[in-house]
Amino acid sequence: PKMYIPRDTTALSLGADKVAEAISHYAEDNTLPLHITRNGSRGLYWLEPMIEVATEQGRVAYGPVTVDDVESLMDGGCWSGNSDHPLYLGLTEEIEYLKNQQRLTFSRVGVIDPLSLDEYCANGGFDGLHNALGLSAQAIVTTVADSGLRGRGGAAFPAGIKWQTVLNTQAEQKYIVCNADEGDSGTYADRMLMESDPFTLIEGMTIAGLAVGANKGYIYLREEYRLADEVLQQALAIAEANQYLGDNIRGSGKSFHLEVRLGAGAYICGEETALLESLEGKRGMVRAKPPLPAITGLFGKPTVINNVISLATVPIILARGAEHYKTIGVGRSLGTLPFQLAGNIQRPGLVELAFGPGLSTLLNDFGGGTRSGRPIKAVQVGGPLGAYLPESQWQTPLDYEAFAGINAVLGHGGVVVFDESVDMGEQARFSMEFCAIESCGKCTPCRIGSTRGVEVIDKIRNGDEKENNIELLTDLCDTMINGSLCAMGGMTPFPVMSALQHFPNDFTVQEEV
Ligand code: NAI
Ligand code: SF4
Repeated sequence: PKMYIPRDTTALSLGADKVAEAISHYAEDNTLPLHITRNGSRGLYWLEPMIEVATEQGRVAYGPVTVDDVESLMDGGCWSGNSDHPLYLGLTEEIEYLKNQQRLTFSRVGVIDPLSLDEYCANGGFDGLHNALGLSAQAIVTTVADSGLRGRGGAAFPAGIKWQTVLNTQAEQKYIVCNADEGDSGTYADRMLMESDPFTLIEGMTIAGLAVGANKGYIYLREEYRLADEVLQQALAIAEANQYLGDNIRGSGKSFHLEVRLGAGAYICGEETALLESLEGKRGMVRAKPPLPAITGLFGKPTVINNVISLATVPIILARGAEHYKTIGVGRSLGTLPFQLAGNIQRPGLVELAFGPGLSTLLNDFGGGTRSGRPIKAVQVGGPLGAYLPESQWQTPLDYEAFAGINAVLGHGGVVVFDESVDMGEQARFSMEFCAIESCGKCTPCRIGSTRGVEVIDKIRNGDEKENNIELLTDLCDTMINGSLCAMGGMTPFPVMSALQHFPNDFTVQEEV
């Protein structure tokens, strides 16, 4: 019998290793010839640890499994897909949460052994690279441009235009940098991809190197992602040993070298220019733009810097073609985005969807409402710099332009849910405080403005010259939006002002209890 037990950080934090150990012991004690694959996670996090068994009908899932469930599962012969057990979930692919998604970038995530090159290749892996090796640099860039792929880190800038700029810039040395400093609240798509399907990122970065003429790449990984680091290091060694990386890739005469560098825990190092400073061994301070990194980037050289998901989406575009990719999605938001449901939600997890449906689809159909059972009050989409959305905005289509139209962002796809017990005045204060703590300090509106912002919100909430201070806060936010050097100071006003606008009652005098 063949069994899959996840080994991604979330499943591990919920006890997957202990479950795997108990299952192995059971198999040994009962001389059962069990083959266990440690796959990544399918991203159905409320069901983790979710184990799967291979049956003739397909993979059958059980979850959430604890060590205490192992005996009854095994005694009941779960490896043959026994449907009597209370943790039986049916065929994995038929679980609605998964079935109703469009898994493209995440098509192998949770399916394969992350470090099996054979399984990777058997599931479409390296098809994109093989195609890219037969194309000119310009043809690869044109394919990415035609696909409509936009940066998945949050800013949604067209990847093809960025790559074209790097291709057009003459230089002896160019670089590909992957931004894996995933810092947005409630987000984990980058981590999941790196832990569960690392070769996809390696393939995407290699294709990027071929496209712009760069032979060196760095993955800038947040240091908290220890397992991702471990998996990536092993995957890099395997890819190199099999000529998918290094000199003379698959006998093409082309080379691409890749290494992982760890950050040190600063949110601002996810901002591309601060990231480049950090990668150069300096303190993570934001650089003024222009010059753009595409022209003067790492060590002053032309650099493609993209998020994990942008780069990991490139292989499927090169494998299936731009025409295929651009048929998915709506308007100028083409393809899919892996949304990450978090916060007070009943069914947290990763939902890869084509752009277009309303936010409520995520909250209700997938998320199942709040975990507390109380009504949802607000949803923060796009990380700590994203607006808080009230119920009247939950029908907004998940598309970059529709969100921009309501002064909100889709960002990196983080969706954090709050129930009615949340105090939105407190959340607005937290946004300013977060900015004050994480500001790199380079420009005044952010460095000073965020601290003054905390003070003004406190005054408003204390009823101290309320109208005047609301005006002052609005003016301060305006200055931060227009005068900050980067998105940290420039976007902090969005959560603050949306909270004030939609939940004014939370900015009244706090009663002493
Ligand atoms: P941006 O709009 O300044 O730039 C977007 C990208 O396009 C950059 O890489 C820039 O260098 C490039 N670019 C712009 N014009 C170009 C041109 N003509 N040629 C070539 N490249 C060009 O946005 P920024 O400041 O890089 O990102 C802000 C976003 O980051 C926010 O919207 C936020 O959602 C997101 N964010 C994501 C986080 C995460 O954990 N993933 C954390 C914090 C913020
Ligand atoms: Fe630094 Fe804040 Fe200015 Fe960005 S906005 S450069 S984080 S001080």
